Amino acid sequence: MAAESSTGIRSFCSFLVLLAAVITQTQAALQADRPFPKKTEMSFYMHDWETATREENITNVPIAGNPLKKPYILEFGSLFAYDDAITLTIDRKSTEIGRAHGIYVNTALDGSDLHIMVSFLFTNKAYNGSTIEIRGADRLLQPTREVAVVSGTGRFRLARGWASVETVFLDIPQSNAILRWNLTVFHY
Ligand SMILES: *[C@@H]1O[C@H](CO)[C@@H](O)[C@H](O)[C@H]1NC(C)=O
Ligand SMILES: *[C@@H]1O[C@H](CO)[C@@H](O)[C@H](O)[C@H]1NC(C)=O
Ligand SMILES: *[C@@H]1O[C@H](CO)[C@@H](O)[C@H](O)[C@H]1NC(C)=O
Repeated sequence: MAAESSTGIRSFCSFLVLLAAVITQTQAALQADRPFPKKTEMSFYMHDWETATREENITNVPIAGNPLKKPYILEFGSLFAYDDAITLTIDRKSTEIGRAHGIYVNTALDGSDLHIMVSFLFTNKAYNGSTIEIRGADRLLQPTREVAVVSGTGRFRLARGWASVETVFLDIPQSNAILRWNLTVFHY
């Protein structure tokens, strides 16, 4: 009798756990279906440095590529990792609002596309600790291009949007660049 009732309690507990899981999933689904109540627009500059200069240290390193060739920004298959400063203006000495941690890999046979995956890790007062996730075709030879905002964390949870990217400084031989980012982000 005692054994039977403890089995009963156990299955009732399992039922409660299952019910809680279903409710949590339903809430997540409802939230994902609601229109995004907030829209945030922001602009900043990303300093991507493969060769050190007087103003800047190396922030981007080639990590792999075509075994028959040297990794190079315009060479198909070249893979880079970076930790770039993001600042308010094009001036490297302007306020640093976070870092861009990511990789890009040249994924066009003719070298024209750097497939980009990057997290913006904000450290400014307003967004401190929050991140935005970016992914897309960064066709670096075009003066401007658009990539997707695929998600985020903190105040940018479940974010969706897009980013316009513009190369405002480019030194191909040294593989140094400054990119201007305009982001439009919808989030809860
Ligand atoms: C470059 O590195 C030096 C030594 O670690 C550091 O003092 C300096 O602030 C760095 N410069 C930039 C622009 O990050
Ligand atoms: C951001 O958060 C960190 C860790 O909580 C804190 O140390 C830092 O002072 C904060 N920065 C700003 C600008 O609020
Ligand atoms: C970013 O926004 C600025 C200011 O509105 C504008 O001048 C610039 O053309 C924009 N860049 C892109 C790539 O959309």
